[in-house]
Amino acid sequence: MNKINHLGIIVDGNGRWAKERGLSRSEGHRAGAETLKNIILYLNKENLVNYLSLYVFSTENFDRPKDEVNYLMELFLKWFKTVEKEYKKENIKVYFSGRKEYLKKEIVEAMNILEEKTKNNTGLVVNFCLSYGGRAEIVDATKKIAKMVVDNRIDIDDIDEKLFSQNLYHELPDVDFLIRTSGENRISNFMLWQISYAEFYFPKTCFPDFTIDELKKSFLEYEKRDRRFGKVK
Ligand code: IPE
Ligand code: IPE
Ligand code: MG
Repeated sequence: MNKINHLGIIVDGNGRWAKERGLSRSEGHRAGAETLKNIILYLNKENLVNYLSLYVFSTENFDRPKDEVNYLMELFLKWFKTVEKEYKKENIKVYFSGRKEYLKKEIVEAMNILEEKTKNNTGLVVNFCLSYGGRAEIVDATKKIAKMVVDNRIDIDDIDEKLFSQNLYHELPDVDFLIRTSGENRISNFMLWQISYAEFYFPKTCFPDFTIDELKKSFLEYEKRDRRFGKVK
C-alpha cells in the first residue's frame, strides 16, 4: 500500500459500544483508549502513515455530564503521564491541538511535558485533538495573524493560505484520508481547514471494535479513490 501522509480519525461510538453490552459509558471510553493505543503503535511500527490526527475530545464535549468529562480527563492524564518512555523508544512524536486554556493545569502540564520529551523523535507524528474545535482553531489562527498585522510584522497582503496554515495549532499537511467510526456521517467540527480535499470513510463499527483488520480494510478503500484535486486527469 502507498503510504498515507496524513490520516485523521474521528474516534466515535464508545458510548454506544458500551450501551450494547450493558456497560457504563466510561467503560466504553476505556475500551476505546485501548483500541487507539494499539492503532498508534501499529501505524508507527508498519510505517504506514506520517501524520495521524486523532479527534478525542471536542470543545463541545465539555457540555457532557460532569462525571463523563472527568472520567475522560483522568483517562487522558494517566495515559499522557505514563507513555513517555514507550513513545521515546518507539520514536513517536506527540502534538496536541486545541484550547489548552479550557483544561485543568495538571493535564496541560502532562501534555506539555510529553510534547517536549518527544519533540526530537522522527517516527509517526501523533496529533491529539483535545479540547479541540475546527472553528476555534481558525479563530485562534486569525487572532495570531491579526496581531502580526497590528504589530507591523506583516502586511495585510502577506496573508495567504500558506501563512494561515503556519498559524494553526501546528503546521500540518492537509488530511488525505479521514475515518469516522460508528456510522455517523458528519464532521462535528474536526480540522475544517485541513480536510478540504480529504477522502472520507464512515465505517459502521463502533470505535472500541475498530481492529487493525478493520483499519487495513479502510486503507484498501482509500487505495480505490481517485483523487483529482479539481484537475482533469
Ligand atoms: C467518542 O465516543 C469519544 C468522545 C467523543 C470523547 P462517544 O462518547 O461520542 O460515543 P457515542 O457517540 O455516544 O456512542
Ligand atoms: C465528535 O464526536 C468529537 C470527538 C470524536 C472527539 P461526538 O460524538 O461528540 O459528535 P456528535 O455529537 O455525534 O456530532
Ligand atoms: Mg459520539
